[in-house]
Amino acid sequence: MNRKSTVIFSVLAGVSLASGSFLFSSAGDAQSIASGESSEARYLPEYTANGELVLPKNWRHWVFVGSPLTPNALNDGKANFPEFHNVYIEPGSLAIYEKTGEFPEGTIFFKELQLTLQGENPDGSRTEASGRGYFPGPFNGADVTVKDSKRYPETGGWGYYNFNHHEPKAMTASVRPKGECAYCHMASAKKDDVWTQFYPMLDNIAKKFGG
Ligand code: HEC
Repeated sequence: MNRKSTVIFSVLAGVSLASGSFLFSSAGDAQSIASGESSEARYLPEYTANGELVLPKNWRHWVFVGSPLTPNALNDGKANFPEFHNVYIEPGSLAIYEKTGEFPEGTIFFKELQLTLQGENPDGSRTEASGRGYFPGPFNGADVTVKDSKRYPETGGWGYYNFNHHEPKAMTASVRPKGECAYCHMASAKKDDVWTQFYPMLDNIAKKFGG
């Protein structure tokens, strides 16, 4: 090997060693998260100086739990939420829920609203390669809930936030009063004011703990 190729070889060897150890350590992290031992990766709610909730960071990488659908065409043309309701939970909180059967303080749920593609039939459905049905269209804002028993005693220990019912999503949001959001969750949601009856993955965990 001449001097130049020796240098290139050592650089390449260094890179592959480094990426080898990176792979090793990320596998280790994945394992500890899967077994629920690590809370390092947990994202906790952030607030502005005047107490508004900051749009959660990185939520698109969170865990999907379910997607109820209430299109306009099935609600006399005026559904309150004429969209898919794509619901995600913050993964660090999910890991604790899996271990304890309870949503820990700081749990965040993110519900992204997503309109259906323009319908072709009277019931708002359309026909695509997979069949007749409803297909996801443009995003349409988001609702967020945060568990903090001390901060939100009036609304069952959860804070309720709306980050616009259109796009783009707002960057911060102020807490909504009980009569707008919490009353409905407190009345009919199955588990700790969360609608686990529509999220089988979370409901099955609750059942393991007798809930
Ligand atoms: C009339 C009843 C009702 C009201 C009022 C209501 N919700 Fe909900 N919410 C639901 C139902 C039912 C679900 C289950 C998923 C779905 O159908 O959208 C839900 C789900 C959610 C979720 C997903 C996590 C969970 O708890 O299941 C969030 C976040 C949420 N709502 C936030 C809000 C916010 C913020 C407001 C007020 C701006 C609000 N909700 C008002 C009925 C309600």
